Amino acid sequence: MLEFCAAERVGLVVVGPEAPLVDGLADALRAAGIPVFGPSKAAAQLEGSKAFTKELCARHNIPTAGFKRVTNVTQATLALAEFGAPVVVKADGLAAGKGVTVAMTMAEAQAAVEEIFSGKFGAAGAEAVIEEFLEGEEASFFALTDGHTILPFASAQDHKRVGEGDTGPNTGGMGAYSPAHVLTPLLEGEAMTRIIAPTVKGLADEGMPYSGVLFLGVMLTRRGPELIEYNCRFGDPECQVMLMRLESDLVELLLACAEGRLAAIEPPRFSPDTALTVVLAADGYPGTPKKGGTIAGVEAAEATGARVFHAGTALADGALVANGGRVLNVTARGASVTEAQARAYAAVDLIEAPDLFCRRDIGWREVAREAAGD
Ligand code: AMP
Ligand code: GLY
Repeated sequence: MLEFCAAERVGLVVVGPEAPLVDGLADALRAAGIPVFGPSKAAAQLEGSKAFTKELCARHNIPTAGFKRVTNVTQATLALAEFGAPVVVKADGLAAGKGVTVAMTMAEAQAAVEEIFSGKFGAAGAEAVIEEFLEGEEASFFALTDGHTILPFASAQDHKRVGEGDTGPNTGGMGAYSPAHVLTPLLEGEAMTRIIAPTVKGLADEGMPYSGVLFLGVMLTRRGPELIEYNCRFGDPECQVMLMRLESDLVELLLACAEGRLAAIEPPRFSPDTALTVVLAADGYPGTPKKGGTIAGVEAAEATGARVFHAGTALADGALVANGGRVLNVTARGASVTEAQARAYAAVDLIEAPDLFCRRDIGWREVAREAAGD
């Protein structure tokens, strides 16, 4: 990477996924004098280690679920008995979204613990965190920071489960919309002052300033917003819907983060429209996705005004085919979630891809609220 960036005289690197951040790619680029958007290895522990984040919250009084760190089945069993069901069991390290079990029964929780300590997740499962179950609606909130200045970015709501009505196994995300109206300006302000600001200050005070985007997963509980988790990157497919609304120059914002100049930058401006994206995934996802399925109609879908982002596609003899789990993101804007949803599905229906599937209910919570006139 360093050689490539030097040879091509790259002026800004945006590190997309979490693994290279946790491995220290941003540090290496920074040391070579290449502007980079993304946190250091030390600060990326926010996503790389659940225990790190829970301890940081404890030190800085950041609201989050009560927790216990455990390193073997015996300790875990004791902790589970303390919390009782429902309870949440998490492998400490990166597990591509598969390391978390929200257990409704003690038997499920016990099975999750045994799975983690069986070595299934490798080093990521050397430790686990047992957490109090938080009740409420979940939303995502994003903020840009250069380690000191923080600019609120946007909110979104993801649909993690593979099946309609939020059923079935977890995925990387089957669709999303932005903004997440459930995160009202008041709640957003609380998330900023009670969660994000003390996180940024805490990390800076402890000598590991965070530079990049903070992706906050937040539960709106009766006690107020509480941290579920941090990611150290833009989410997929949250990124697609937020950028469809962004009116400011993205490069200017990211470069200002990279160069520690955020205090001198105008806050990002967004369209008040809603953007909604539907993921087309390959049959078999999130297990083993079927590769090679044919895809036609992308141009027709885009002719409606929708945008089709490619994720897992390839060209086979010049024709577009599926080449991964999540294959396409069909994204549209509208004055309401209901309108954006209708436009996105109208575009989806023009895509002919017999080996792809999608959820038909992306945005359902908000569509129901809009129908009820809330
Ligand atoms: P995480 O990887 O920590 O975001 O966990 C994955 C998903 O599990 C989250 O998006 C939540 O839906 C759920 N989850 C995680 N922690 C909790 C908790 N303490 N209470 C309830 N649900 C949780
Ligand atoms: N869509 C959730 C994520 O990117 O982590």
